[in-house]
Amino acid sequence: MDAAATTDFVHVYEPGIDTARPPLLMLHGTGGDERDLLGLGRMVAAGASLLSPRGKVLEGAMPRFFRRLSEGVFDEDDLRRRTHELADFVASVRERHGLAAPVAVGFSNGANIAASLLLLRPEALAGAALLRAMSPFRTPPQADLAGKRVLILSGAMDPIVRADDAERLAQTLSGNGASVDHRVLPAGHGLSQPDIGLLKAWLDQA
Ligand code: MLT
Repeated sequence: MDAAATTDFVHVYEPGIDTARPPLLMLHGTGGDERDLLGLGRMVAAGASLLSPRGKVLEGAMPRFFRRLSEGVFDEDDLRRRTHELADFVASVRERHGLAAPVAVGFSNGANIAASLLLLRPEALAGAALLRAMSPFRTPPQADLAGKRVLILSGAMDPIVRADDAERLAQTLSGNGASVDHRVLPAGHGLSQPDIGLLKAWLDQA
């Protein structure tokens, strides 16, 4: 297998017309695909380039970005491997299209691999919006996240992500130097209208 075959993902790349905006790396949740978050990306960052890969792991028929052993219990070896694979893919697309480092916008499983990208391959991202994220590692690695902006939007009634786990992620990222804005919304695991408003406002400040 050549390098392209090992790092390539089924994906959509939509070139943007607003070169002042960083590209967005859209990362879907479990059971989603590369088309799921394109509408969200266009809504919150009109004119930005969008790169949206499909997770390569299948849980039944549901694409994901890495394996889990059960709900909220991750196969961390697979997570590490998949994180590097995704970072290499992002680097190859950036080179092909002459793109700046993207800001990740990840939902659920996509937010969890975006958090892992920040910790394992910080050079891959300019920042990240983590929607309904949890801590990807039991013992998080150290990373230099100085200069990275991170937005974490959690749901107070989320049955999947524990409040203390999302808070632990916020502390891990800020403890490594990221500028973290963590908001807890009156919502469940699904996205709500306030998520979209806060995400758009945060991206507009970039
Ligand atoms: C995960 O597996 O990444 C989390 O449990 C979120 C999800 O349900 O995908």
